[in-house]
Amino acid sequence: MWKVIVFVSIVTAAPTDNYSVINFNPINEFTLKLLDNTYAFQESFGQKNVAISPLSAWSIFSLLAEGSAGETFHELMKALRLPNDLRATQMLHGAVNSLLKSANEDVTLYSQTAMFSEVSLMIHPEFCRSANHYGTDIFNVDPSNTTEFANFINYYVCMSTEGKIREAVRPELLEDLKLILVDVLYFKASWAHPFDTTQTKEEAFYNSQGKSIGSVNMMYHKAPHNIGDSTQIGAQILEMTYGKNEQYSMLILVPFDGIPIQKMLSNLATQPLDWMTEYKISGSLPEIDCYIPRFKISSRTDLIPPLQYGGIQRIFDRMNAELPGVSDSPLFVSKTIQNVEIEVNEEGTVAAASTIVGLEDRILGQRFEANKEFAFIVMERSSGLMLLAGVYADPHVV
Ligand SMILES: *[C@@H]1O[C@H](CO)[C@@H](O)[C@H](O)[C@H]1NC(C)=O
Ligand SMILES: *[C@@H]1O[C@H](CO)[C@@H](O)[C@H](O)[C@H]1NC(C)=O
Repeated sequence: MWKVIVFVSIVTAAPTDNYSVINFNPINEFTLKLLDNTYAFQESFGQKNVAISPLSAWSIFSLLAEGSAGETFHELMKALRLPNDLRATQMLHGAVNSLLKSANEDVTLYSQTAMFSEVSLMIHPEFCRSANHYGTDIFNVDPSNTTEFANFINYYVCMSTEGKIREAVRPELLEDLKLILVDVLYFKASWAHPFDTTQTKEEAFYNSQGKSIGSVNMMYHKAPHNIGDSTQIGAQILEMTYGKNEQYSMLILVPFDGIPIQKMLSNLATQPLDWMTEYKISGSLPEIDCYIPRFKISSRTDLIPPLQYGGIQRIFDRMNAELPGVSDSPLFVSKTIQNVEIEVNEEGTVAAASTIVGLEDRILGQRFEANKEFAFIVMERSSGLMLLAGVYADPHVV
C-alpha cells in the first residue's frame, strides 16, 4: 500500500573520480535534520508537501561562517557540521562546488552563487576572496529602488533556472537589506529506466493509518533497481537512477505500515547514515514492479525557523550577530527564503531551487516597534495618574 512519500535526492559521485575520498556525510546529516525540522514547521501550517534544497543553504551559511566570530561562528560550525579548521571547511565547500559543476551528457546540473552588496557597504577583501573562491558572482548595487533591484535578482535567478523560477523575491523582501546572497540550483535528468506513459493510471493515495486521502497519477514500470528495508529508519528504500552512466539517483523512502512520516523523518535526522549503503544490492539487481506517482511541488519556504530549531540562532539575532569578517558594518541575517520547483514524471525529473539570504544592518541603538498587539495608557506625568487605557489588537488601515 502506498502512503506518504518523501524524496531525498542525494548526490552520489562515481567511484572513479576523487570526490569519493571526500566525506560528504556531514552535509547529508545537515540535510536530513533540516528536512525533519522544515517538515515539522510547514506541517504545523497545514502544508504537507515540502521540497527544500538544504545544500544551497549549507553553501551560503558555510560561506558566512568564514566571516563570523564568537558564538555565531561556533553555532554555524556545529549545525553545518563543518570540520574544525578553516582549510578543511574550504576544501569541503570547494569539493561541493566542483562536483556541482561536473559535466555529464545525460544530466543537466547547474549551480550558481551571487552576492549583491549595497555600494556603500565595505565588504572585507578577505570575504570577497572567499566568495570568489567558490565562483560567486559579485555585484555592487544601489538597492534604493527595490522594484528595480528585485527585477535584477529575479532575472539572474530566472536565467540560471531555465525560467523555472520567475519570482524568487518580491520587492518588499528587499527593504533595508545591505547584502544579499543568492544560490541557484538547477537539475534536469532522465531516468535510466523511463516509465511508459500508457501504463500511468489514476490510483488512490493513503496516509499512515491506511486511510485513502486522495488520488494520484501512478506511473508503473518493471525495472532493475536497488531496493532494501531499513529497520533503523523504519522504511523501505528504492533507488531510481538517472542517465546512462547512472551517476545521480533519487531515493524514495516509504515508511513501514504504522510508522508516521514524522517518525521516519526524525529517524533519518538522528540515526547514523548506514542505511545509505545497506539498501544497495551486491551483484545483479532484481526486476522490481515499481509504482511511483507523478508529482509536482512548488514551494516557498522561510528557512529561518527550521534553521533556528537546528541550532543556528545567533546569526539571525539583530542585537548579537557576529559577522566581523564580512564587513565593518554590524550585519545580521534577516531573511532566508527558498523557492523550489520540482516535477517528477515518466521521463525524469526537473528541479530548480533559489535561496535568498538577506543581511541587514544590526540596530546598535535600541529599537521599538509596535508591530504586534499592544496596550496603551494616557496619563498625567507629574502625578502619574492614568486617564485612559486600552489595547490595540485588531489592525486596520485608517
Ligand atoms: C583529483 O585528482 C587530480 C589528480 O590527482 C587533481 O588534479 C584534482 O585536483 C583532484 N580533484 C579534487 C577535487 O580533489
Ligand atoms: C523604480 O524602478 C521602476 C522600474 O525601473 C520604475 O518604474 C519606478 O518608477 C522606480 N521607482 C522610483 C521610486 O524611482
